Amino acid sequence: MTLIARLLFATLTFSAVIANNVSGSFPSDFIFGASTASYQVEGAWDEDGKGWSMWDHLVRTDPGHIADHSNADVAANSYHLYKRDVQMLKELGVSAYRFSISWPRIMPYGRPDYVNPRGIQYYNNLIDELLANNIQPFPTMYHWDLPQNLNEQGGILSENFPDWFGDYARVLYQNFGDRVKHWLTLNEPYIHCHIGFGTGMHAPRIRSPGVGYYRCGRQILLAHARAFHIYNDEGFRSAQNGQLGIVISMDWSIPSTDSVDDAEAVTDYIAFKFGQYMDPLFSEQGNYPQRILERVATNSALEGLSTTRLPAFTDAEAEYLRGTSDFLALNHYSTAVVYRNASVAGMHEVPSMFNDVYIGSYSDPSWPMSETNWSAEYAPGLYNLLNYIKDTYNNPTIYITENGFSSFTGLVDDQRCQYYKNYLVAVQQAIESGVDLRGYFAWSLMDNFEWARGYTIRFGLYEIDMTDPERTRTPRKSALVYKEIIRSRVVDMDYNPDPYLPGSSHLVTGSALTVVVAALYNLLR
Ligand code: NOJ
Repeated sequence: MTLIARLLFATLTFSAVIANNVSGSFPSDFIFGASTASYQVEGAWDEDGKGWSMWDHLVRTDPGHIADHSNADVAANSYHLYKRDVQMLKELGVSAYRFSISWPRIMPYGRPDYVNPRGIQYYNNLIDELLANNIQPFPTMYHWDLPQNLNEQGGILSENFPDWFGDYARVLYQNFGDRVKHWLTLNEPYIHCHIGFGTGMHAPRIRSPGVGYYRCGRQILLAHARAFHIYNDEGFRSAQNGQLGIVISMDWSIPSTDSVDDAEAVTDYIAFKFGQYMDPLFSEQGNYPQRILERVATNSALEGLSTTRLPAFTDAEAEYLRGTSDFLALNHYSTAVVYRNASVAGMHEVPSMFNDVYIGSYSDPSWPMSETNWSAEYAPGLYNLLNYIKDTYNNPTIYITENGFSSFTGLVDDQRCQYYKNYLVAVQQAIESGVDLRGYFAWSLMDNFEWARGYTIRFGLYEIDMTDPERTRTPRKSALVYKEIIRSRVVDMDYNPDPYLPGSSHLVTGSALTVVVAALYNLLR
């Protein structure tokens, strides 16, 4: 089937919508969860022996770079409030929590010659608290907070990075592997490399969109494989019986018109944004997609370079990488409409990954837009993406480890509720269509530090007033919607709870002030 035919087929299947506004049921063993990441929620940035991460460095050396000049020194204060976080997970009824481990909290200087016992203690406490509440830990080993000490030695672009990461992973297996059955290695290579090493918007703020970007992706794949082989070869898998997966992000894309050029634009978008990371690990033949190797080689020659900006992996490396993910951890937010026509000429910097892809993209104006400029709601995109993965990569096991919608503050987040309902219908229908999808994690359990956007936009099921020293957590309407989906194991499109009603107060274990505000609100409306 051609890509276009596949798209059409998937879209048609998905539009066989739901009866009586209620979806089919999720399988009884399907995992519902929620996600966060260490730098975005923990705070305690220099407590109990933690070292600096490259984000600690960024916010101290250039505070104006963050939209609201904020930082994550305290953030949601999860380092101190982790028991409350676990209570929230309990309230929602989820059976898994995706959090991340802060490398510099475990190893302040990045290397295992000094392991910080208080860092180990914190994650032991968190994992034990989760298990005591029947919630499975899904820790991410690396969610963008590299120890600054390693960053200063070349960071991800250093040849040593895969070994550094492997040594760190070993310490994690040794300390937590007896209780962790699902490890997520590194988060979102595409976004991390594009924004951290391409545009320079995120730490480590390197601007090298045509060279550093590709090298970063290569190093991340090798680091992931290193962690996988250590798990297998050093007896951790046989003793601990867990599984490992890498976290890869992908939007879906649809062609702007039915022109041949727009169809090609879709194929390239998928190959560069997704195939670049998926094929080396999940395809039968391994290595990068041939079309991206050829494109970058051709462009590099045109740019007068004597070697390509994206070399293929050697045969030995390709073999080392192939088949090293037990499952795919997929982050998905939105869909792009893509095109290739004369207007693309001169649109992108040369050299750059975007100039190599050579497309333009936009969001369809009819799709509800979130408060970020990159994410609009189009749930069939998730259904189509999941089916594309099933057909292209021999139906791998998938966990959706992030999906969510940004808003401003406020407990009544109707757009987010609508988003979750529609995307969870897509998830349920994808399972029915045969996708081996085992779990779904909402991003995010609570409001947190959204990187260069600071606290200006929110993703939380739970709202946090970031000026309140208590960092009280209060459930939004979307928390109640998600809770009901988890309880009933169906999506009822008409379910419309009121986050201010006393019936919701079982979720509100926050400050008295919240309760007073809620009561006042009820009186006045
Ligand atoms: C993906 C990243 O993993 C996460 O850190 C970020 O907050 C969300 N997307 C939303 O932008």
